[in-house]
Amino acid sequence: MRKPLIAGNWKLQKTIPEATALAGELKNELADFTGADLLVCPPFIDLGVVGREILGSPIELGAQDIFWEDTGAFTGEVSGPMLKSAGCSYVIVGHSERRGFFGDTDEVVNKKLKAAVRSVLIPILCVGESLEKREQKVTKEFLRKQIGASIQGIGIEWIARIVVAYEPIWAIGTGLSASPRMANKTHRFIRELFAEHYDESIAKNLRILYGGSVKPDNARALIAEEDIDGFLIGGASLKADSFATIARYSVL
Ligand code: PGA
Repeated sequence: MRKPLIAGNWKLQKTIPEATALAGELKNELADFTGADLLVCPPFIDLGVVGREILGSPIELGAQDIFWEDTGAFTGEVSGPMLKSAGCSYVIVGHSERRGFFGDTDEVVNKKLKAAVRSVLIPILCVGESLEKREQKVTKEFLRKQIGASIQGIGIEWIARIVVAYEPIWAIGTGLSASPRMANKTHRFIRELFAEHYDESIAKNLRILYGGSVKPDNARALIAEEDIDGFLIGGASLKADSFATIARYSVL
């Protein structure tokens, strides 16, 4: 049985006071929540205050990115041991905005994934096709290549820690979410890929989140699908009530 994971990706939003306020509201809304894992991924600068604010609540802390080296002369970067010391248990790796705006190639994503597992952080590996690829009907080929390159050299003992987020790029921040059926079909395909690369048990236990314009009004239908194990939520995670509503729908 895969426990759902409901994760909020705050992206480049929330100053320290704003992040403190949102984390406090989330803690109030979700104090007694059970049945799914809850996660917030604020900007690096907010990790300390958010971590302190959610202490004693069921909400866990994650980062939005990680550097592939643990320490050294790499101005501006943040490493796995640093995230761990800030109280993170998860880290998002390979978000399409990192890939698109900051040049995170599959090779970079692979190195970051390895850095995350080395620091005993749970990576949320983001994958997903562009509108162009979807229209060309090459989504499967694209995902096969993207996932294969991202997980290359990661052994079976480490892969069991990974979470995958399927985020079709055309659905992120656009209000256009994939239909539950379409998303589920792709999730099933991703699960099959993990069975090919590893084994059936890894594939069966792999949590695959859906991301891309998840809102309270579409969350229920999406989570009802067999292979959708939770969400990575951008815009709707910035308001405590919408994040909490989506979390509650995920355990109905
Ligand atoms: P969105 O973002 O929910 O605002 O579409 C999702 C994401 O990028 O993780």
